[in-house]
Amino acid sequence: MTATTKLAPPASTGHPAGLSTLFFTEMWERFSYYGMRALLTLFMVAPVAEGGLGFATPDAARFYGNYTMAVYMLPIAGGYLADHWLGARRAVLIGGMIIACGHFTLALHSLTSFFLGLVLIALGSGLLKPNISAMVGGLYAKDDPRRDAGFSIFYLGVNLGAFLAPLVTGYLAQSAAFKSWLASQGFDPAQSWHWGFAAAGVGMTLGLASYLWHADRLAGVGHAPPDAQLPLAKTAAVLAGTVALMGLAALSDRSGYEALRLMFVILPVAAVVYFARRADLDGQRLAAVFAFFLAAMVFWALFEQAGFTLALFADQATRGDLFGIAFPSSWFQALNPLFVIALAPVFAWGWVRMGTRQPSSAIKFTLGLAFLTLSYLLMVPAAALTAGGKVSPLWLVGLFFLQTVGELCLSPVGLSTMTKLAPPSLVGLILGLWFLAASFGSKIAALLGGEFQTADAGQLAAFFGGLAAVAALATLGMGLAAPWLKRLMGDVK
Ligand code: PHE
Repeated sequence: MTATTKLAPPASTGHPAGLSTLFFTEMWERFSYYGMRALLTLFMVAPVAEGGLGFATPDAARFYGNYTMAVYMLPIAGGYLADHWLGARRAVLIGGMIIACGHFTLALHSLTSFFLGLVLIALGSGLLKPNISAMVGGLYAKDDPRRDAGFSIFYLGVNLGAFLAPLVTGYLAQSAAFKSWLASQGFDPAQSWHWGFAAAGVGMTLGLASYLWHADRLAGVGHAPPDAQLPLAKTAAVLAGTVALMGLAALSDRSGYEALRLMFVILPVAAVVYFARRADLDGQRLAAVFAFFLAAMVFWALFEQAGFTLALFADQATRGDLFGIAFPSSWFQALNPLFVIALAPVFAWGWVRMGTRQPSSAIKFTLGLAFLTLSYLLMVPAAALTAGGKVSPLWLVGLFFLQTVGELCLSPVGLSTMTKLAPPSLVGLILGLWFLAASFGSKIAALLGGEFQTADAGQLAAFFGGLAAVAALATLGMGLAAPWLKRLMGDVK
């Protein structure tokens, strides 16, 4: 690890030059992911006459949930393949190419290309997402004081891409201006969705171009292990395990198999109990890892409403103009990344300023969940007001602000806590677990939103009230567990 810092010469920013390569590649990859995601739900439920797929909401929820679950579950397999065979560098390149193909496939209008495109994006993300983060880590020695700042800069790239994407793809897919341009050029304006998806593909292609162009800056990181020999039996087990887990979760959609959903809770709880009973330090820390896993899973289940139920609320129940200026409903998806960009520096400054007096990781997680509670409490009156017609966009602005404060209390903190708690030989695996929490969370998010509708204001208020109640319970649970978690973590802060 230390040798890599020497190989990567510091750029003028004081960070290894390779950081800029990874920054722009991830910025464009996230541009493609969130640009596409901003349209996905709306495209699925849009009537066929308007160029959509005409899916009923519960069907759209199933596809959306299984897709987002796969995007964050496949990194377990992708990380494994890179560590033992491909190397992170090649995994990112191949993953990026598959992702681009996926978005371009979505640019075609057919049901087959729709499903094929989603499968390709999920597979490519599995190769790209974990390995690009691992390479960021590889640019710095373990004890390099610039390491955390490097990850924060990288997270800025993520959110810059996520912010710009819905503005572009939403304009192409939803705006009257672009539709009339399409018509004037002899194109079918109802096909505007596919121009949005194609723009996501162009974004990923730009990411690949900048990755290849500045690959030399990555000298020394992400190479395949010298004795790269894929351990076949173990690899087959990892791949089969990942596919089986996804299969079981997807199977739980079917009537008669709903009980399978209990695994989302039973697996992590069993792991906490199992490890907590072990007396050694690693056992205690792994118990803490799984407790954080549980809290993160609940957090993402509520937070990931953004791409589905909240996208529908924005489209169907919110006025699409601010101060007299009309905008497409998918633009609401730009608010979370915008607030991350604005608030992340404030948080970084705040934690440094508090120094040793800053709250423990468990308390930060509790705060994250508390802000989610507030965000959904805010939506209860907003939902009630929909009885009188579409409501002000400021409600969703408020929700995304509160949720972003919650995200910044939990997401970056969680990543660093997990890696610190992991026994050194298991860091990669624990990183995979962190993605798994997001994966289970995304699936649960869609399960919660399966029956979503905006026609009945009372039911809508009850829906958001229910989410607030789940968040409040999780906040309480995490708050009560905090002192115990602090003990389990020992000297890890
Ligand atoms: N905005 C983050 C990203 O896209 C959300 C996220 C956090 C996803 C943690 C997965 C795991 O990277």
